[in-house]
Amino acid sequence: MTTLAILTAAGSGARLGRHLPKALVELGGVPLVLHAARRLAASRVVDALVVTAPDGSGDVVARTLADPAVTVPVTVVDGGPTRQASVAAGLAAAGTGHDVVIVHDAARPLVPPDLVQRVVAAVRAGHDAVVPGLPVTDTVKQVAPGGDAELVLSTPDRAGLRAVQTPQGFTRDLLERAHKAGQDRSGSEADAATDDAGLVEALGEPVHMVRGDAAAAKITTERDLRIAALELED
Ligand code: CTP
Ligand code: MG
Repeated sequence: MTTLAILTAAGSGARLGRHLPKALVELGGVPLVLHAARRLAASRVVDALVVTAPDGSGDVVARTLADPAVTVPVTVVDGGPTRQASVAAGLAAAGTGHDVVIVHDAARPLVPPDLVQRVVAAVRAGHDAVVPGLPVTDTVKQVAPGGDAELVLSTPDRAGLRAVQTPQGFTRDLLERAHKAGQDRSGSEADAATDDAGLVEALGEPVHMVRGDAAAAKITTERDLRIAALELED
């Protein structure tokens, strides 16, 4: 009974706007994908890693992850055109014997190992799909998207809203079933699922939430990278 982590790193990082894939951008001198892999390994609840690499960057990703702190076996596979397709490619490359799979974004490099433990423990405790989440601090409004002045439709009660992070954890059977049912053939991020739990929800299966951690924040823009650099200094 072992746990596999799929580490998604195949995105281009368009919003960061560097001339290299986001996963290879450095934070404190260490590429984001290596930060994330070190922290997954440090959790001691991950037995193997499958990493989705951007087109043409498989070798550099493999070399980047050859690090003494990445104490688990690493397999690098080519990602797909969308995050959802990348996760599916990672699942297809998963070896036998793993009964639990967690999916983590290299774009969340500073994930605390105890968050990884919390997610895996909840799956092992019998919840087949588990996501970390945090209360939202902004008021959130539903709008009719489009135009300079979008029409506000409603204001959902903030007390019942959570911002969702990764890693998300699943029994392997359920995650495979969810990806099969929701297979993304569009190749467009706009049509693909934004997280794996959404595919499970689409099957009508329950998803549970554990407490997330602000340190697992996602890096999308240069500003996020600067904030993460400050966290590293602490
Ligand atoms: N990802 C992936 N395969 C894709 C697209 C995204 O493995 N085809 C991964 C990214 O590498 C990242 C995670 O999914 O770790 C979350 O995606 P996001 O933050 O959107 O990263 P990018 O797609 O790289 O960034 P952008 O959308 O700005 O291009
Ligand atoms: Mg993206």
